[in-house]
Amino acid sequence: MGDATRQAEKGEFTRREFVQAAATTGAGVVLGGSSLAQTPLVDLPVPSEPEEKVEEFAVGIIGSGSQGRNLLLQCLKIPGIRFIAVCDIWPYHQKYAANILKKYDQPVNVYEDYREMLAKESSLDAVIIATPDWMHAEQTVDCLKTGVHVYCEKEMANNLDGAKRMVLAARETGKLLQIGHQRRSNPRYWHALKLIKKDKVLGQICHVFGQWNRAQLYEFGWPKGKDLSTDALKRYGYDTMDRFRNWRWYRKYSGGAMADLGSHQVDVFNWFLEANPSTVQASGGLDFYQKEGREWYDNVMSIYEYKTVDGPVRGFYQVLNTTSHGGFFETFMGREGSMVISEDPRKGFLFREMTAKRREWEDEAEKVTTMGKDAIELKIGETLAPDGSKDPKGQALLEMSKKPAHLLHLENFFNAIRSGTPLTCPAELAYETAVSVLKANDAVESGTTLKFDSVEFKA
Ligand SMILES: NC(=O)c1ccc[n+]([C@@H]2O[C@H](COP(=O)([O-])OP(=O)(O)OC[C@H]3O[C@@H](n4cnc5c(N)ncnc54)[C@H](O)[C@@H]3O)[C@@H](O)[C@H]2O)c1
Repeated sequence: MGDATRQAEKGEFTRREFVQAAATTGAGVVLGGSSLAQTPLVDLPVPSEPEEKVEEFAVGIIGSGSQGRNLLLQCLKIPGIRFIAVCDIWPYHQKYAANILKKYDQPVNVYEDYREMLAKESSLDAVIIATPDWMHAEQTVDCLKTGVHVYCEKEMANNLDGAKRMVLAARETGKLLQIGHQRRSNPRYWHALKLIKKDKVLGQICHVFGQWNRAQLYEFGWPKGKDLSTDALKRYGYDTMDRFRNWRWYRKYSGGAMADLGSHQVDVFNWFLEANPSTVQASGGLDFYQKEGREWYDNVMSIYEYKTVDGPVRGFYQVLNTTSHGGFFETFMGREGSMVISEDPRKGFLFREMTAKRREWEDEAEKVTTMGKDAIELKIGETLAPDGSKDPKGQALLEMSKKPAHLLHLENFFNAIRSGTPLTCPAELAYETAVSVLKANDAVESGTTLKFDSVEFKA
């Protein structure tokens, strides 16, 4: 796995929630003194004013593995967040997280069983869930029904029945449920969306492309002497230590690479196109890692068809575990140009077609050469107000975008609890993405084109 992939998985890239609609911000690409986005900007995020005294929240975490600890460390940067409990079935990870929190002067009670945690910790306001995907539905539903708000990692569940139960529990209880598709809280993505949708810098979108390529199987070991006992493994549904650590590659625990990585990016397709797909076809297989006993496809290539308000769009998405070429990014292709956007902040480019009608700002724009072509770099925060002055909100947006990936999404969650501002990835939206990606697995299985019925996307 390359540095960028590692950084993205750990959430070390920049993003921030949108808290409220900006009134007039000329945030845009700086084009040698003029801005591409001179029109008033009404839907980019703006930072909220720091509150003098913030409300305290008692928070617990279920699943303090690699991502759980990342989220925990990000939470420690948010004023008013106090951890009171850590739950993990693996004492090694349980202690690891509890020790981190102790260093930050947040002593916690530790639990093996989340039900015991919910029963004993009656003052919990919110719980963060970062267990393997197959546990998300049961744990989320129980937390919501106990009366706590939940931030649950993606993929929301490895089957639609579980995902649906999560949506219904959030609806019934009125508690907040944020799902961990953190690109939705990323100001760079908001910036790209605004340029595409409002400024129409690509013209009509006809095709989209996305990929997550990496060179090897993403797999984990465990320190000597830290094995869970056979009894403990069995009690929690794991046959072996390998399955427990490498749950992503087994069907019981995960929806495979399409759900693990594809869900982030197909989520972006659906979000930017303002549509859910109408069909999917896919080819994939477990072609390179059978000897390790893995079950899920190690490579998938999928084609989605969309019927958008602007016309038909076809989308190609691939996930590979043999070749890292290009890493991970999404591309939107229109009649007037293409845009590359990624959670990796080094990848944000606009390519205009030679055949497109020139716009006055194009010739002045600062260019970089990438893939042998002139490109305009997407620069959030390099902002000119409509009168040509620098807008202070633009600088604030730039500062926001320097924050780590998951911090922005967590801030969005806690701000929603605190102030009632909207979640960027509520369960209903994540459910639509779950429907989209899990069907790609079915399409591989069946070898046919599968149709989506619009009612399928409603939980
Ligand atoms: N949003 C992102 O960018 C991102 C990145 C990485 C992982 N994730 C998601 O985070 C979740 C965790 O992934 P990870 O990489 O940290 O996996 P991990 O295996 O490192 O951690 C999972 C933890 O859950 C614990 N666990 C397993 N079953 C449990 C149970 N029944 N009760 C309590 N604890 C239990 C394990 O002991 C382990 O500590 C997954 O859903 C994954 O898809 C999201």
